[in-house]
Amino acid sequence: MSQFDYIKDIAKYGLENDQEKLLHALNELIEYSRKNKKINFALHLQSILKEGLKTQQTKGLAKVGSQKYLLREEDLSLNELIIEKITSDYTFENLICSVEVKEDLEYFVKEHKGIQVLQNYELPVANKLLFYGPSGCGKTLASYVMAGELEKMMIVINMGAIVSSKLGETSKNLARIFRHAATENCIIFMDEFDSLGKIRDYSQDHGEMKRVVNTILQLFDYLPQDNILIAATNQVDMIDDALIRRFDSKINLGLPNEIQVKELIQKTLSKSPFKIKNENDLSEIINLSRGLSFYLIQKTLITAIKRGLFNTLPSNKKLYIDVDIWKKLLLLEKK
Ligand SMILES: Nc1ncnc2c1ncn2[C@@H]1O[C@H](COP(=O)(O)OP(=O)(O)OP(=O)(O)O)[C@@H](O)[C@H]1O
Ligand SMILES: [Mg+2]
Repeated sequence: MSQFDYIKDIAKYGLENDQEKLLHALNELIEYSRKNKKINFALHLQSILKEGLKTQQTKGLAKVGSQKYLLREEDLSLNELIIEKITSDYTFENLICSVEVKEDLEYFVKEHKGIQVLQNYELPVANKLLFYGPSGCGKTLASYVMAGELEKMMIVINMGAIVSSKLGETSKNLARIFRHAATENCIIFMDEFDSLGKIRDYSQDHGEMKRVVNTILQLFDYLPQDNILIAATNQVDMIDDALIRRFDSKINLGLPNEIQVKELIQKTLSKSPFKIKNENDLSEIINLSRGLSFYLIQKTLITAIKRGLFNTLPSNKKLYIDVDIWKKLLLLEKK
């Protein structure tokens, strides 16, 4: 059967209201997509299927206090705590990092793809990963790369909403998210993990921060081995030491060195017609980029291309990048 045959079946059974056959056809399409390496599509379909079944269970009149009512309440508040659920096409190719960092990340992925091997020998599986380092050096990007490489759905948590939730609610909310992620077998991604430190400012209750940290410690400790948690922060000092210790891998994504700047420029330009005119210009740019993040170097390059475009005659087929504009932008960022 081809993908189109499955879609035809799904349309037919859907319109005929034949729930049983519809579910069967959907599951077959999910399996078919997996086999044909359309992993993201399969993940999305699976999530739609799960959500659909859950909504059906909670449909209809629900009495306050009944199980149905509680389920619905829980879903409502969950939506506020989750920024988005994503799948990702990013791979290690998209991330520029040191050989050591890449090796650590590759092993992390291998552990999960070969989880059975480790479990056969009763070896622990690393499932908690922390990215730290300055802004614009790829922490969020690396998390998306991991979601792509692990071929799993990722729940991006709204740390702001968790932290500012009502007094005493933070711990409950966190537990809720972990429970939800476990049922869907997704990665939990806590970006800007340091926001947790802000509970001290938000809350008048001085015990609140302690309670939240204790809850997270417990959630971390009891996280099933096949669940994955990724956290990212650019203020690692704001985070409680006991929490930091719980991460199996702590990955420092720092500012780029000269080779990495070169790689960034090459990658950014690889699919575009724009070029740097000569090696000297490139060396000067690399020199000027010292101390700036991947993000800022890339941003100034793109701005220079755009601005240069209006100064270049259309007859200039080579489309050389106006290095003077780029240098000026880099200097401005340094200030
Ligand atoms: N190591 C890297 N390799 C390749 N591109 C990078 C890298 N770091 C940053 N970039 C580029 O900069 C963009 C922004 O990076 P990202 O959002 O991952 O930074 P961050 O470390 O999460 O910053 P922040 O702490 O401000 O959240 C990326 O989408 C990518 O285009
Ligand atoms: Mg980020």
